Amino acid sequence: MIPSNEIQQGTNQLLQFLTDERRNILTKGANDIEQLIKDFSKDFTHQQLNEILQFHEMRYAVMNDPIITDFEYDLLFKLIEQLENHDNSLVSKDSVTQRVSSDHVSSFETVNHLVPMLSLDNSYNGDDLRDFDTSVKKLANINPEEDVIYTVEPKFDGGSIAIIYKNDQLTRAATRGNGTAGDEITENIRKLKTIPLTAKFSDYNIAEVELRGEALIPKDHFKKLNEEKIKAGDTNLYANPRNTATGGLRTKDAMETARRGIEAFIFQLSYAVDSEGSSQLEQWNSHYASIDFLSSLGFKVPTIEKKKCKNIDEAIAFCSYWEEKRDDYAYEIDGMVVKVDAIDLQERMGSTSHHPRWAIAYKFKAKQATSKLLNIEYQVGKIGSITPVAKISPVALAGVTVSSISLHNEEFIHSKDIRIGDTVLVERAGDVIPYIVKSFPDLRDGSEKELIFPKACPSCNTELVKPENEAAWRCPNYQCEAQVLQRMYYHVSKDAMNIDGFGPSYIDRFYEMGWLNSMADIYNLDYDQIQNLEGFGQKSAEKLSQNINKSKANPISRLLSSLSIHHFGKRASKLIAQEIDHVLDLQNWGDEKFEEIKDIGPVVAKNVIAYFKEEANIEMLKQMESYGVNLKQTEADKPKQVAADAPLIGKTILFTGTLTKMGRKEAQQMAENAGAKNISAVSKNLNILVVGEKAGSKLKKAQALETVEIMTEDEFLTLLSK
Ligand code: IVH
Repeated sequence: MIPSNEIQQGTNQLLQFLTDERRNILTKGANDIEQLIKDFSKDFTHQQLNEILQFHEMRYAVMNDPIITDFEYDLLFKLIEQLENHDNSLVSKDSVTQRVSSDHVSSFETVNHLVPMLSLDNSYNGDDLRDFDTSVKKLANINPEEDVIYTVEPKFDGGSIAIIYKNDQLTRAATRGNGTAGDEITENIRKLKTIPLTAKFSDYNIAEVELRGEALIPKDHFKKLNEEKIKAGDTNLYANPRNTATGGLRTKDAMETARRGIEAFIFQLSYAVDSEGSSQLEQWNSHYASIDFLSSLGFKVPTIEKKKCKNIDEAIAFCSYWEEKRDDYAYEIDGMVVKVDAIDLQERMGSTSHHPRWAIAYKFKAKQATSKLLNIEYQVGKIGSITPVAKISPVALAGVTVSSISLHNEEFIHSKDIRIGDTVLVERAGDVIPYIVKSFPDLRDGSEKELIFPKACPSCNTELVKPENEAAWRCPNYQCEAQVLQRMYYHVSKDAMNIDGFGPSYIDRFYEMGWLNSMADIYNLDYDQIQNLEGFGQKSAEKLSQNINKSKANPISRLLSSLSIHHFGKRASKLIAQEIDHVLDLQNWGDEKFEEIKDIGPVVAKNVIAYFKEEANIEMLKQMESYGVNLKQTEADKPKQVAADAPLIGKTILFTGTLTKMGRKEAQQMAENAGAKNISAVSKNLNILVVGEKAGSKLKKAQALETVEIMTEDEFLTLLSK
């Protein structure tokens, strides 16, 4: 790991230097900044502060293990900004402030790689890998009985990059291009916090070095990017994490690169020379060790997802293991790469013009396939939004058969030029729902039909409307049968009233029987009739009745969010439930009441007011109440009051390692209920560290601090029971 003692000491001194008064100057922009800078310069330098900030960026972005809080990082960042404002000559390309500046633009000019960026040969199963092992032994003159050691690592599905450091400074970054030359993208790469701006190669007698890696976007961040687009009414969604990452590296607006949350993994040390130009690669006789070395300089490299395997069987087993787990992995991977670990063996084997002979990709089963778009159907949502859904010839994608795919909205279909009868490329990427990547216009034979978006609701035939600033067409008929059913499905779902064992198929059935004319009827079912239905019996009817009765006592926050009021979700429902004694109090709420509540916006207010003005809705709620549904604020709805003698009052707490007695969220909630505040990093501000299994660096750090109380899960639980 990075020699971090000095940096940690420096950080502590700086945080001490930042007294409350000085923190105020930095955060509130008071005008004694000159004095603050003078005082700073007595004990510290800009360069030192910059190094400290780079170190903490690495802890956060590369190691996922920050040792200062976000607030403390922001303070230090504000400080360096002030120093540079005060003295412009301090600004250099290596300053962390330049990660968030748009002053420099990549040239995108074609540049030659120091060594060609080759491709990889492919394999698809264990037998292919055994053949590879045989050819390795032949080429390297190894006895077939002997084992070859392989390093196996993920095959990242992003954009290839090559990065050059000269004299410890990042000087150039480029895309793969045609393998010999790529596009220069240095300024964009500088925006990635997983790429150090400077690294101490000189400690290893290296003056110039080229690293290979892959830029990619974590799957959950990709989801977030599209959710933000949808929220903003932008129908032009990102197609997949890979294209979003490669596109993000090629934009002229380097700030856009920063916004996309792109990260970079390094997987190859491809070139390293001293100041005389002599190769320094021999310092590492193992690929695995060379990657560990890069990790120690602050680069992000594969960790548990990389393994040094003692022979090809172990390599095959590791590939299969990750093929199973690929959906749980935070990044898109399309296979594993099996590399001969010994560098001298690699050199003996050499490369073809296309790929190295010492490495091979093990490709996972395809997630992309072509299929025929048979038809487009239209679904009506609980607030009337019409979603077009493509029906395609079923295709198997990474083990799941896909036959229906959402097309989001009319604009999406037009922007992708999708027609009924088209051949389309379909992709299912990890836990991302399947989507249509593109259509193939070249394959059309003239029989394809362009989409004519319906003018009327497919369920109730009411004319559709398209509210300004919204992407979807809507059916405005609140009584529309499809909407009524969707609202009931949602009402009983886990997210809302959470009625166990009561799903859409029961609702459809009871609705057809004429038993469910409104949501309230759910609470007035005739179980004698139900038990006589085919497939039911006394037991199942009783069970259903128990589950429905149980839900009647739910907190009103659940009831409120179960009503499907547009934009009025779980969080807003919780906030409002804290403020009322009875659900029907909302009949008397006007704009000003909503305005008083932080985080409730005017749109929610308008929709809730409209809902409670509607006589039919009030009747429905009153009916529910008469059937025993709770409409009064419950204890669970009230804001949490922590007793003054709660066991963890005023303490900060952090959970680390794998918890075995409880989930992490659950543990944090318990701690909060007991008066504690959850924080995310080990620092001198931390009071208690609860360690589960396989606790790592956080535990070490806490032990080193000596001020943190360290306890096991059991000890934590005992403490709470007091
Ligand atoms: S090694 C000379 N390792 O796959 C070594 N490549 O088809 C060749 N890739 O363009 C590359 N993950 O961008 C290597 N762990 C990994 C990789 C990896 C993804 C990409 C790489 C290259 C392509 C080769």
